[in-house]
Amino acid sequence: MVSSANHKLLRVENLVLHFRTTVGTVQAVDGIDFELDSNRAVVILGESGCGKTSLAKAILRLLPRNVEKYTGKVYLNGVDIMALNDEEFRQNIRWVGISLVPQAAMNSLNPVIRVGDQVAEPAIVHLGIKKAEAWNLAKQMFQHVGVPEDFLYRYPFELSGGMRQRVAIAMALVTSPSLIVLDEPTSALDLLTQANIFNVLKRIKKELGTSFILITHDIATSSELADEVAIMYAGQIVEVGHAKDFFPKPLHPYAEMLMASVPRLRQDQDPEFIVGQPPSLINLPTSCRFAPRCPKRFSKCDQDPPMIEKDGRKVKCWLYA
Ligand SMILES: Nc1ncnc2c1ncn2[C@@H]1O[C@H](COP(=O)(O)OP(=O)(O)O)[C@@H](O)[C@H]1O
Ligand code: SF4
Ligand SMILES: [Mg+2]
Repeated sequence: MVSSANHKLLRVENLVLHFRTTVGTVQAVDGIDFELDSNRAVVILGESGCGKTSLAKAILRLLPRNVEKYTGKVYLNGVDIMALNDEEFRQNIRWVGISLVPQAAMNSLNPVIRVGDQVAEPAIVHLGIKKAEAWNLAKQMFQHVGVPEDFLYRYPFELSGGMRQRVAIAMALVTSPSLIVLDEPTSALDLLTQANIFNVLKRIKKELGTSFILITHDIATSSELADEVAIMYAGQIVEVGHAKDFFPKPLHPYAEMLMASVPRLRQDQDPEFIVGQPPSLINLPTSCRFAPRCPKRFSKCDQDPPMIEKDGRKVKCWLYA
């Protein structure tokens, strides 16, 4: 595969993934653009049902049967991976280029296989190496994710949730991908374990130079790892920019409200709830998709706003036109 130091690690252009259902088309991913450099982490935030998992699946081409539309460009190191056939994609991209820690990964480990074998397997299958070498790699990955070496010989039920999640991350790492997509890696874990998992990711980023797409609800904890932030609403990105600009001052009204919904330990104010629900992805309004819930809407919001550049950030809101 051709690649060049001049290229971004990942560039996603107008990515669309729609599903066919008996009640209509679900526009789960509806024209997503973003890019990511090497050794950077983008955190993707948004309420349930806004298309985050579908975006991860679209990037990794893990598609269900009822796909109605799957279009756009995804470049990895400058190579258009949407143009590859399924076999080329499976051989060159999945696992070795980009790997996934799926939603609820820690509960998806095979209960009757030792975790060492489970972590070694992708290396055997996708790197074509022998079992002993793959176990060696698995051992190294356990060091990176902070799991004691002798746990390689254990079964999943012998590990805590946090340890199983570290094993799932080790499995995604063992093929040395340049990018790992993690879909809610800390949901269902207690606060301390969540923080430990984010520390593991920080360490991997530093030690191995890996990039991350991190889908999460843990806005506060993930902010320490994030280099970039993308806010998703109703199948689209409504704000994207550097984390250092975003966290002190989100621009999009939805992003502001998401941030205000985070409980703060040292403040008297209660977190604010976002009133109403995200729209159905089947019948989307022709107005700004957030308009029915937006406290700042005005006459112009009857039309769908374009993505607007504002001080090096991008925001899909008429307030910044
Ligand atoms: N295979 C599918 N067929 C039909 N609808 C789907 C399918 N997969 C996901 N959806 C719908 O797409 C929308 C976005 O889902 P998802 O990507 O899982 O959101 P999130 O991860 O942000 O919670 C939801 O309305 C969900 O029900
Ligand atoms: S475009 Fe209008 S309705 Fe949409 S987020 Fe901005 S102010 Fe609110
Ligand atoms: Mg999801």
